[in-house]
Amino acid sequence: MSLRIGVLASGKGSNLRNLVERGLLVSAVATNRPSCGAAAFARDRGIPLGEFSQRGFDSLEQRDTAMRDWLLGLGVELVVNAGYDRILSGAFIDAFRGRMLNVHPSLLPAFGGGMDAVQQALGRGVKVTGCTVHLVTEDVDAGPILLQAAVPVLPDDTAETLHARIQVEEHRLLPEAIHLLEQRIDSTRASLR
Ligand code: GRF
Repeated sequence: MSLRIGVLASGKGSNLRNLVERGLLVSAVATNRPSCGAAAFARDRGIPLGEFSQRGFDSLEQRDTAMRDWLLGLGVELVVNAGYDRILSGAFIDAFRGRMLNVHPSLLPAFGGGMDAVQQALGRGVKVTGCTVHLVTEDVDAGPILLQAAVPVLPDDTAETLHARIQVEEHRLLPEAIHLLEQRIDSTRASLR
């Protein structure tokens, strides 16, 4: 069964675009950066877009509560962080526990906890890096891992060329992880019936 997906995004939105173009049920997009590429894509496709700039709220908790309630109001059952650049507060994570994924551009636990995982991998001279899709918990970039893909680092790689190859793998992995999680949620529901 397909669940209604809410995507959180702050960046150019290639993962969001990929999910939509593969026919996944993206019912809502929430962003903290209304001028980002992901927000433009959502507007263009007529996908409900929630704009949650921090300056509209007194605290992170208030913003996350508003974002949570907006997503729940649209019937979102599964949340995908696809390039969302803020740490989520406990109340948000609680509402979607076990139903929220993040995609990160490294083989976690290597190079977690920051925004520059690709640059860090290059800086450390690793020969292989990649991407990870994991469940979101309070521990940043450290929730249970669902899927990973390895990407070789080439001698003349820049952060841009390496990130581009990692994103090819992200675009393959994220939809697969969503299907896996949907199946898992489905069988949990069936066993409770
Ligand atoms: C991806 O590389 C993802 O791993 C990271 O942010 C990037 C988002 O890319 N968390 P995009 O906006 O989906 O193109």
